[in-house]
Amino acid sequence: MTATQARQAQPIGVFDSGIGGLTVVRALSARLPHENIVYFGDTARVPYGPKSPQVVREYTAQDVAFLMSHRVKMVVIACNTVSAVALDVVQKHARVPVVGVILPGAAAAARVSVRRRIGIIGTQATVNSGAYVHAIRSVAPDVQTVSAACPLFVPLAEEGWMDHQATRLIAREYLFPLTLEKIDTLILGCTHYPLLASAIAGAVGAGVTLIDSGEAAAADVERQLDENGLRNTSTERPHLQFYVSDIPAKFAGIGELFLGQSMGRVRRATVDGSGVAPLV
Ligand code: DGL
Repeated sequence: MTATQARQAQPIGVFDSGIGGLTVVRALSARLPHENIVYFGDTARVPYGPKSPQVVREYTAQDVAFLMSHRVKMVVIACNTVSAVALDVVQKHARVPVVGVILPGAAAAARVSVRRRIGIIGTQATVNSGAYVHAIRSVAPDVQTVSAACPLFVPLAEEGWMDHQATRLIAREYLFPLTLEKIDTLILGCTHYPLLASAIAGAVGAGVTLIDSGEAAAADVERQLDENGLRNTSTERPHLQFYVSDIPAKFAGIGELFLGQSMGRVRRATVDGSGVAPLV
């Protein structure tokens, strides 16, 4: 193996506050089936969404240090909350290319919106940050935006209540004000929301296009891999590694639902990158 091939075979590091970032791993695996991936979910400290930007930034620095200890060739911030309030922290600590979900999601929405009215839903921290609004303004100044935090969607997805009447009811409650604004595009600005896509689509109506920021980010990862000569040229089955900072009973079960495939062994990691122990 040449030095270039060895570099290309290094894993992509993906992290999230917890389990939801597996939807981004799923999008990455579908688009880039030969890439090795190291995933870290900070399940001991999830959720990040209701926390202050300062705390999220502290956690983020530790999460990135853990991924860097695995010699990743690129860092993908699956978490919208981290992408919204701590992108600069990741860029400072990662000595490799970094891809977040906000700009790719915003650009994808701006490309498809015909009426130029885009809705944004996310955690409280993501909505408060205004990161999606700024990103949309930077690529499409003519677009009007309306945002709403939907905090209950995260526990509903974690509970596996994708197609539950409670989920549909809550979706209608959260999203009705957005429908009054005549949006034609809605950004699912949180890792967990793509799992609730059918309830969300039911609440906003068939005329609204849903944008999965994770899928948009996967396209950006592919572009950046190619630009940096980092795409893995091996056609062997990729090595996917999963680490979490706690032992949530449901991680593997719900995780496989998020991922759309089996996860193999999940390991426990300390977030300062100093040690790893198998889950028991
Ligand atoms: N991963 C978070 C996000 O995408 C959702 C869960 C949380 O609040 O930590 O914003």
